[in-house]
Amino acid sequence: MMRRFYCTAGAGMEDLLAEEVKNNLCGTEVEQISGRVFFCSNAHLHTVTQLKSAERLFLLLCKAPPISLPNNPAKAAVVIQQSIVGDADTWKRNVLTWTTLQGELQDRHQRGQKRQREEDEILNVDATSTNSLNSNIHLGKDPPSFRVSCRCSGIIARSYTSQRLSRIIGMAIKEKLGWKVDLREPILEVNVYLSDDHCIVGMPLLKHPLASRHYMKHNGLRSTIAWAMTSLCPKQLNDCVILDPMCGVGAVLLEAAQECSNTVFLGMDTDMTQLQKAAENVKAAGMEGRVHLLQCSAMGVDKHFTIVFCYHLFSTF
Ligand SMILES: C[S@@+](CC[C@H](N)C(=O)[O-])C[C@H]1O[C@@H](n2cnc3c(N)ncnc32)[C@H](O)[C@@H]1O
Repeated sequence: MMRRFYCTAGAGMEDLLAEEVKNNLCGTEVEQISGRVFFCSNAHLHTVTQLKSAERLFLLLCKAPPISLPNNPAKAAVVIQQSIVGDADTWKRNVLTWTTLQGELQDRHQRGQKRQREEDEILNVDATSTNSLNSNIHLGKDPPSFRVSCRCSGIIARSYTSQRLSRIIGMAIKEKLGWKVDLREPILEVNVYLSDDHCIVGMPLLKHPLASRHYMKHNGLRSTIAWAMTSLCPKQLNDCVILDPMCGVGAVLLEAAQECSNTVFLGMDTDMTQLQKAAENVKAAGMEGRVHLLQCSAMGVDKHFTIVFCYHLFSTF
């Protein structure tokens, strides 16, 4: 089934994300604006969640030209009712799609857990689960709970704060659809982005950002940036060693290790605390056999390496 999604992306990452969507998801109608990439795809949602350069993933409900809001809140509510909330049937259809997508992920997650339990029974260890799904996806007969998160910029932001707009849009949805507001643990979240160029409405498909890798117990360089660096590296490398001479907590090493499966990696750092964190990340990613760590200064490297990744913020004194 063809669904329309969008992902948020860090500054300058939009091109890479658009490429990834086309290459890995056979995405169509790929369109990018600053900080967001829109696309259609009939890929399984699990495959969509494997995007490496995206920050967050949303089901797109509406992408429309910018709206202008009167200063009077009552009049603004009328405009919001017409241009953002629209008709109830469209919301019902979108919520159904969102629920179906959640079901796809839940099925996959449960199958994964079952397989994990079977493996753990053989190994006799406790099963652990990654909980990135929206936990309560069952929409019964009762109206679902929801909250609105609105971000605005440009002319609208001069008259309205994001918080105030979230409240006005929330009230309009409540009135139109009869949903219950729950600011703490809603079933549905509605994200609205209003700028001088766009009016975008979506619902996040995961609780956690795609950019939060489950194995990064300690965060260093943002994983999307680390992946962008490693995407420059040829994939078909054999029998070579790739070096990160200032590896920190190992973000680049781990992104690269997943991209180049026939390669061994060496991470060096002078700071033992960083190396200990890197070791925990490497272990969580199950990469102990392929990513090796060494306490050593980059200044002392005298061996030849096929590729050297280096990300370091130099300061001048
Ligand atoms: C910005 S972090 C590197 C980020 C890392 N590439 C990653 O993937 O997360 C910089 C690291 O360089 C290390 N460093 C600084 N000078 C160094 C040197 N001469 N040799 C090796 N490591 C060094 C610091 O200890 C720090 O952990």
